[in-house]
Amino acid sequence: MALKYRYYLFDFDGTVADTGEGIRRSVAYSLEKLGFPALPEATLSRFIGPPLHDSYMEYCGMTDEQAEAAIAAYRERYVDIGLYESRLYPGMAALLRSLHRAGAWVGIASAKPAFMLQRLAKHFGIDGYLNAISGTGLGRHSADKRDLILAALPEGADPKQACMCGDRRFDIEAAKALGMVGIGADYGYSVPGELRAAGADAVFADLPAMAEHLLGERPRGLFISLEGSDGCGKSTQIALLKEYLEKRGFETVLTREPGGCPISERIREVILSLDSRGMSAECEALLYAASRIEHVREVIEPALDCGKIVICDRFLDSSIAYQAYGRELGEDFIRQINAKTLERVRPDRTILLTVDLAVSRKRMSQGAPLDRLELEKDDFFHRVQAGYTRLAQAEPDRVAVVDASRSIEEVFESVRAAVDEAL
Ligand code: TYD
Repeated sequence: MALKYRYYLFDFDGTVADTGEGIRRSVAYSLEKLGFPALPEATLSRFIGPPLHDSYMEYCGMTDEQAEAAIAAYRERYVDIGLYESRLYPGMAALLRSLHRAGAWVGIASAKPAFMLQRLAKHFGIDGYLNAISGTGLGRHSADKRDLILAALPEGADPKQACMCGDRRFDIEAAKALGMVGIGADYGYSVPGELRAAGADAVFADLPAMAEHLLGERPRGLFISLEGSDGCGKSTQIALLKEYLEKRGFETVLTREPGGCPISERIREVILSLDSRGMSAECEALLYAASRIEHVREVIEPALDCGKIVICDRFLDSSIAYQAYGRELGEDFIRQINAKTLERVRPDRTILLTVDLAVSRKRMSQGAPLDRLELEKDDFFHRVQAGYTRLAQAEPDRVAVVDASRSIEEVFESVRAAVDEAL
């Protein structure tokens, strides 16, 4: 990836994260506590971004001392509650991850206290993508944005190779004053025309457009597949994984094979139905392959193309384990009929959940009525498991083997670690 700049700096509130709710509520709390009249929502929103001290003076007519007291009251609520009333803008985690992976310097320059920025970066799991977090100290009331920006750059960085992305004029004006490129994030808390008037080199109404500009291409998504024999507890782990990734600010698409889109779901019915007993192994393998290529085109590729994380319940490895080994059709045949799929996508990370056949049999019998494949005999499932073991040995960098006989929490700990590694 050919990056546009070397150093990418971001304002936090209104650019990286939508922190509005927590700020508005905490300002409202401080005004009530100090006996100042309440402000309308729109004015409370003006507090997002610039130094609080200035805003209290400007919008509430406070003196210097009153503003200090207001900040103290604000923090009472904000530090423990308000801070977490926020969310990353959808697509921001993918953008930061892509920049980091492409070797860019990524920093935060914000008028928020540095310790809060650090907490939030950790909370959202983006700390690993950041080279610098520059915020204010607790005592300073009016930090100059230019100083905050300089502190987020490495020594001797050439400002011409640096861009500052922000949603308020302060960000843009400071960037321009330092000779940097100023990128306006108009999806945040700017008022119409504010960013252009401040001299922004480019202004973006939405984050995907800004991300594409910054990267020179769309951020790359991540393709995670989960595998294992029937009854290994995949569904539970998948639900937990989705929740975890979304909390970290990633957009996810949860899908499954066979199925995942209307045509492939119809093929699924044919494959799994007990009416299809007696289907030849070749026909079965071709139906899985047919359902897969449709699913890739309709769901997986489009999601990856816009930077989302695809979590897929089974993928090609299932065909290797079940059809190449279980049905003894051989790997060559399966790879051949899936060649069109392989040209397009491959999972970046695969989690293989393993359990003993006895456990898996027991779990199968406790669930919904058994489908055509689940009715197979033990020797079939032994071959399936042997197929998975071979896959894991052949591609240890992609396939993470997780012992799924432990508790849900213990298993998820391993699943999470394997996904974190890929992220
Ligand atoms: P499903 O009910 O989704 O099973 P599970 O909940 O265990 O994932 O049914 C999918 C069945 O299809 C499962 O038995 C595995 C099998 N299968 C194959 O044999 N080959 C394949 O390529 C795929 C995707 C699944």
